[in-house]
Amino acid sequence: MGEYVTLHYAGREFQLPLVEGSQGEKAIDISRLRQDTGLITLDPGFANTGSCRSAITFVDGERGILRYRGIPVEQLAERSTFKETAYLLINGVLPTQQEQTRFSVLLNDNSLVHEDMKTFYQNFPRSSHPMGILSAMVNALRSFYPEIQNLEEEINITVTRLLSKVRTMAAMSYKISRGHTVVYPRPDLTYCANFLNMMFDSPVRPYELDPDVVKALNVFLILHADHEQNCSTAAVRVVGSARVNLYAAISAGIAALWGPLHGGANQAVIEMLQEIHEEGLSGKQYLDRVKKDPSTRLMGFGHRVYKNFDPRAKIIREMCHKVLGRLGQTDNPLFELALRLEEIALKDEYFISRKLYPNVDFYSGVIYSALGIPRSMFTVMFAIARTAGWVAHWQEMVADPAMKIGRPRQLYTGPTQRDYVEIDKRT
Ligand code: CMC
Repeated sequence: MGEYVTLHYAGREFQLPLVEGSQGEKAIDISRLRQDTGLITLDPGFANTGSCRSAITFVDGERGILRYRGIPVEQLAERSTFKETAYLLINGVLPTQQEQTRFSVLLNDNSLVHEDMKTFYQNFPRSSHPMGILSAMVNALRSFYPEIQNLEEEINITVTRLLSKVRTMAAMSYKISRGHTVVYPRPDLTYCANFLNMMFDSPVRPYELDPDVVKALNVFLILHADHEQNCSTAAVRVVGSARVNLYAAISAGIAALWGPLHGGANQAVIEMLQEIHEEGLSGKQYLDRVKKDPSTRLMGFGHRVYKNFDPRAKIIREMCHKVLGRLGQTDNPLFELALRLEEIALKDEYFISRKLYPNVDFYSGVIYSALGIPRSMFTVMFAIARTAGWVAHWQEMVADPAMKIGRPRQLYTGPTQRDYVEIDKRT
């Protein structure tokens, strides 16, 4: 006999079963709630609602734990590559040497983008945000490549195609936005090295790859690769639950990620730091503004799940020291400002009482800037990484026999029934 939670309502008792995850986390199964009681639950922002069972990523916000398929993100950041981590997320296990080689071959074979797609890129206004372009172009991929027919091999190819092309398309959007020649992917370069080369190589100034920069990019992409049921992943699952094609579902994820409260925070942080720097404000003055004005947030701080520290932010802060040192930018004023803001905020009652800590995006923009990646591309970097997680969640969802179309209920608060009034009688 399993455990139950008892609900008392309208003079009756209802037994709601408790279910348990592999880490001992418990949840109340309310799947029969409406059927049995006529009630629904109200949970704005789904802060207390589990929408699925998932075996991909484990997050413990209280203890600052993040694991992909059971492996701590710290170990992956130190020892893995983004390509290997993407394989792990999608396939559930680390690849053998043979599997890794096959995965690399598939990534390479699928790295080119249909030449006709370049025409689309060229017709976006120059000022378009690369996230809007990426979302549209990923959706457009469906017009160039066939729908998956549910054969394992086809799914593998489609998934790898997406992972590989998203990186090519991201670099392409940057090159075209600058009016430069597109640089094609090279078979001799690794996933991250290829991206950097496609971004920065030019016929007049060949790009020199720096292994430390390639390593830093790998770590960044690993840290952003998945984060269980966040806003964009939930978007991918809900859109995908209508059985729409994979490209459309991922395109929805990219659109959600663009928002400044989600992936767009990395761009918002650097803009905030720049503003504070240019206005000559002290860290304390800016925090006072945040505390007084509810519409101003300390971007890169706070998280729905992490209420102690974000393990990704810790690693990125360390990386900042290393990368800036390596690039000879130890006196980077925005990094110094970020460190100061963190120090003051962590001692401030407003932030302590609300459990607000630096999140993954607080320091990431500082490194991206140091690597020469333009601000408008920061969230695109996040999207390249998160494609691995989105794909893993989409695959898990379509294979789940318990999967249903995402269709929440609501508590209606509008007018009760009233009659239609002809236009000449309306006041
Ligand atoms: N600066 C100032 N106050 C904040 C902040 C912040 N960054 N974040 C939360 N608060 C306050 C908020 O005003 C509220 O105060 P009160 O209780 O007095 O009304 C309280 O803290 C709780 O905030 P909330 O908005 O209810 O918390 P949430 O869990 O709904 O939101 C969040 C989480 C990430 C959207 C929010 O912390 C935020 O807006 N942070 C800044 C944007 C940001 O950095 N986003 C990136 C998140 S990590 C990358 C990713 O995975 O997306």
